[in-house]
Amino acid sequence: MTSTIAQQPRVLVVDDLQANLLVIDALLHGMPCEVVLVSSGNEALRLLLKHEFAVILLDVQMPGMDGYEVARHARLNSTTAHIPIIFVTATHESEESQLRGYGSGAVDYLFKPVNPAILRSKVRVFLELFEKRRQVADGLKALTDAYEELRATQAQLIQAAKMASLGQLVAGVAHEINNPLAFSLSHLDVVRRDLDNVDAALGETIRERVPDAWSRARDRLAETTVGLDRIRELVLKLRTFSRLDEGERMTVSIKEGIDSVLMILQHRLTPDVSLSLDLCEADEIECFPSLLNQALMNLIANALDSLGGPGRIKIATRRTVRGFSISVSDTGSGIPKALRERVMEPFFTTKPVGEGTGLGLSITYSIVRRHGGSLVIEDNEGGGTRMTIELPLTPGDSVS
Ligand SMILES: Nc1ncnc2c1ncn2[C@@H]1O[C@H](COP(=O)(O)OP(=O)(O)O)[C@@H](O)[C@H]1O
Ligand SMILES: [Mg+2]
Repeated sequence: MTSTIAQQPRVLVVDDLQANLLVIDALLHGMPCEVVLVSSGNEALRLLLKHEFAVILLDVQMPGMDGYEVARHARLNSTTAHIPIIFVTATHESEESQLRGYGSGAVDYLFKPVNPAILRSKVRVFLELFEKRRQVADGLKALTDAYEELRATQAQLIQAAKMASLGQLVAGVAHEINNPLAFSLSHLDVVRRDLDNVDAALGETIRERVPDAWSRARDRLAETTVGLDRIRELVLKLRTFSRLDEGERMTVSIKEGIDSVLMILQHRLTPDVSLSLDLCEADEIECFPSLLNQALMNLIANALDSLGGPGRIKIATRRTVRGFSISVSDTGSGIPKALRERVMEPFFTTKPVGEGTGLGLSITYSIVRRHGGSLVIEDNEGGGTRMTIELPLTPGDSVS
């Protein structure tokens, strides 16, 4: 057996007489197969477990284990049960004996002296059968692979479609809120200024007549301003999510973006947090920098949130075959597999009311898609989460 012919289907020839083996070997010469000769049933069974065979030419009368016994054993093992067997026998068998052969799984008989043409044609049929079976198996494998790929793509498309329709909804809501919000804020400003004027015009005595009402009015006014400012911030986030404000497309260094984000988040980088950067050279890519910084900020903010105590955060950038990747890993609480898809939905949060808006990841997802890239969520080795933004070097037009 040499490796150059290892690709060819194997034919196993079993006969206790060396002379018979050599005859069959000679008769099969030139056929598209590798002929393997063995002189006992035991050896045959051993080889059958080691290699794949297209057909077995099996001598019936052998000392020790005879051909029927070998066939019976081969049939008992699921990996060898399907291999066709041609019994080779010296005499024309009685019908009873032939039935025994078929019962043990024989698919055919050949009689000695073997007729070369018949031998070759029978072997050829089984070689073809083997080849067809292999093709079907290959085809099946390709089909299964394609199906798996299709399923993955479909899941991505559904996610993208969901996000896109949410994006439209959110854009509409943000737009509708924006107008009344704008005039409320500006009216509030006018009221505050008027109140200041009134305050200055009122004499001490008059103010002292309604002290409670006066100070309550001022307090409520301040609270209303805080409330409206929160709404304004939320609307801003919603607009980003629905990509109303994308800024300009530019070629920038990712390292600079990371630096600027870390500067903004500096107050949260307490001594408890050990931050490490593993940034590659040549990290200039074409993108919407303000959007990308926001995406990064969300990932790093989430990583910080997840720690809830001492822990590590690592930011790494890499040039990849397809483009560029930015990953943020943390040693925090991790995300259960069942929540992997839901965490990207707008307003999905596990944080207490007032602490989380549930918009960080959906905005990040939307930004990454805008760049034609993808957001991958994985377990971090040793616990925690790794979020990776994968971007093409030149952003194509995104799918959604
Ligand atoms: N790095 C992380 N580690 C653990 N959980 C995370 C991480 N990032 C996101 N999550 C989970 O995803 C949810 C949604 O995140 P996000 O959209 O940023 O909203 P928010 O941070 O306001 O809750 C979080 O509430 C949290 O449960
Ligand atoms: Mg967040």
